Amino acid sequence: MSKQNLTPDVVCKVEKSGNRYNAWSTDGTKYTSEITSGCRKNAFNGDYLLGRFPSSTSKSGFSWRKWEGEISNPVVDNTTVEVPSDHAEVLNFIHNSYSLKPKGLMMSELKWKYLIRSAVRGKNMMMTGPAGCGKTMAAKSVVNSLDRPDFYFNLGATQDPRSTLIGNTHFDSKKGTFFSKSLFVEAIQTPNSVILLDELSRAHPDAWNILMTVLDYGQRYLRLDESDGSDTIKVADGVTFVATANIGNEYTSTRVMDKALMDRFTIVEMDVLTEDDENSLLNYMFPNVDSNVLSNVAKIASLTRTESNSDTARITSGISTRTTVELCGLLYDGFSLEESAEVSIYPQYDSTGGVDSERTFVKQIVQKFCDDGSSDDLFNEEEMAEAEGDVK
Ligand SMILES: Nc1ncnc2c1ncn2[C@@H]1O[C@H](COP(=O)(O)OP(=O)(O)O)[C@@H](O)[C@H]1O
Ligand SMILES: [Mg+2]
Repeated sequence: MSKQNLTPDVVCKVEKSGNRYNAWSTDGTKYTSEITSGCRKNAFNGDYLLGRFPSSTSKSGFSWRKWEGEISNPVVDNTTVEVPSDHAEVLNFIHNSYSLKPKGLMMSELKWKYLIRSAVRGKNMMMTGPAGCGKTMAAKSVVNSLDRPDFYFNLGATQDPRSTLIGNTHFDSKKGTFFSKSLFVEAIQTPNSVILLDELSRAHPDAWNILMTVLDYGQRYLRLDESDGSDTIKVADGVTFVATANIGNEYTSTRVMDKALMDRFTIVEMDVLTEDDENSLLNYMFPNVDSNVLSNVAKIASLTRTESNSDTARITSGISTRTTVELCGLLYDGFSLEESAEVSIYPQYDSTGGVDSERTFVKQIVQKFCDDGSSDDLFNEEEMAEAEGDVK
């Protein structure tokens, strides 16, 4: 059967909201998180629909492409959220919200509901945890589940906080000096918008200073200039901020954030996955990869996490979920566990110190699961059993 003859099981139209592109199906379901941002952007700019087609080569079992057919129903017009105002409705919304969580995001029901509740109550939220544990994914998923205008800013990648958050002063020979405001200014002036401040912990301290008044529930304004008495822009009603921060981990580029800044957020600590959850996630994401190998990957990750948290830790950090997912992508593409580990895991560990290095330590854990176990063991069986027991 040629590709053209296939009928998609879902058809979406892409709409622009803030600086993001959201995909809505004909029945008003949001599919943004299933479709890559490039694909959504192209569909919006090219003014075409996207269809979801079955695909045997994609891990998810489907792929999203341009759909030139008709859609039976007009796309439901999505207006901004009705955040329920009646208390009974609010309770109902929060406690039924677990179904809004994407299946591919592993997060406890309590934490997810806490996020939704914070959003509904207009709290600023900060997702904390080590690198690669799903902070950005969870933050984006919450934003996606709320039917509100959303804006995304990666503060870890901005070199010039003033121009990103405030704007630039330009000079034009005809108009003279004029000010062009940033997208962030537009975002805070959009009522009910949800503004994602990704990697806030890596932002320049100037960015933190600029954000202080913006995030403060009692102030909620942006000062256009550092000088006292300068113009300010008011934060619109219903605007909420969702930030992410690598906290309590090894990254030196993460500057220590000011306590006053932290105080402006409700902190949601992202949990590092347990071996069982990691295993379920990998099996869900890679149904075509041998589940014994996936379970070994989950074991390896959890052994390194237990080790890095122990008092006598020989490694500074455990293998993140981001890394296990990347590694399993390699397994799916036909690389062996040994090869996959070599390119995705080992480079993250320091090799100085030779046999005593962190890299050697991690290699030995991995090798335990690669061969028949006849190699020289770094751990004896008891130690392994103990470490595995700790994780549960
Ligand atoms: N809790 C989780 N559930 C599902 N996938 C996860 C989770 N944590 C990490 N991942 C995987 O790792 C990738 C990176 O996660 P990300 O949210 O960018 O981490 P962080 O922002 O904490 O550094 C995700 O795209 C996803 O594939
Ligand atoms: Mg992140």
